[in-house]
Amino acid sequence: MSDAGTRTALVTGASRGIGRAIALGLAREGFDLVLNDIERQKDQLDTVRTEIEAIGRRAVTLFADVSDAGAVQAMVSHAIDATGRIDAVVNNAGILIPGTVEALPERHWDAVMDVNAKGTFLVVQALLPHMRARGYGRIVNIASIGGKHGAPEQAHYSASKAAVMGFTRVLAQEVGAQGITANCICPGIIVTDMGRTNLEDPVVAERWISNTALRRLGQPEDVVGPVCFLASDASAFVTGQTLNVDGGIVLS
Ligand SMILES: NC(=O)c1ccc[n+]([C@@H]2O[C@H](COP(=O)([O-])OP(=O)(O)OC[C@H]3O[C@@H](n4cnc5c(N)ncnc54)[C@H](O)[C@@H]3O)[C@@H](O)[C@H]2O)c1
Repeated sequence: MSDAGTRTALVTGASRGIGRAIALGLAREGFDLVLNDIERQKDQLDTVRTEIEAIGRRAVTLFADVSDAGAVQAMVSHAIDATGRIDAVVNNAGILIPGTVEALPERHWDAVMDVNAKGTFLVVQALLPHMRARGYGRIVNIASIGGKHGAPEQAHYSASKAAVMGFTRVLAQEVGAQGITANCICPGIIVTDMGRTNLEDPVVAERWISNTALRRLGQPEDVVGPVCFLASDASAFVTGQTLNVDGGIVLS
């Protein structure tokens, strides 16, 4: 169990979309928040902080590009100094730059792998000494059903999310004895700035809906409950798992 007192969660990419919804959901569950995003998102991140304060919880904003090791280390140090404890981390920051394998510039491959896969690793690596010292941690990595099946023009994105899943399975084995769990969430098609990339063509959008058992697209709030579960003590005996939150596209 986490020690008594207010739990704190760090959410990366928290200024909009799924990250914002997760941060607000964790606040409603009683967490204080450390909100991360890139500097460009300052105004939106400040708005999320205000929304969390209106719920009655504390929120600290820290800017860092999760693919920059030095910036991540500084962010995690500041987060621990500011809050005294990080009980849970949600590695949500991610990017998608569509392109076919044949035409994909190397820099797009690198950018997507750097943010989605390396960013997750860097944040976890920076946090582990703190979590190990406390003998407690909840690590929730946002992968994607795209990492299991994927769609054309997203080979690099699919590879990055498959990397997050593989990373999480091994991480769970390395840190379990220290009271730390590590799990993945795989969202389906969620209506956000990124999700709309999959929905520009109405025919494709309709196909996604008809391929979904619940016959609808997801909203950011649909991802919140499963993340809160994996960030809480209710999931104490769940680790190394990947949970699809997709309305029933990938059935397992
Ligand atoms: N929307 C979907 O359909 C969908 C489906 C499956 C998985 N996901 C995953 O969910 C997560 C959130 O996606 P979303 O749909 O809310 O996307 P979004 O583009 O709306 O939000 C992504 C957030 O991450 C931030 N970010 C980007 N690069 C960053 C960096 N280097 N450092 C710190 N922050 C950074 C952005 O500024 C933004 O706030 C991503 O990991 C994405 O891959 C989304």
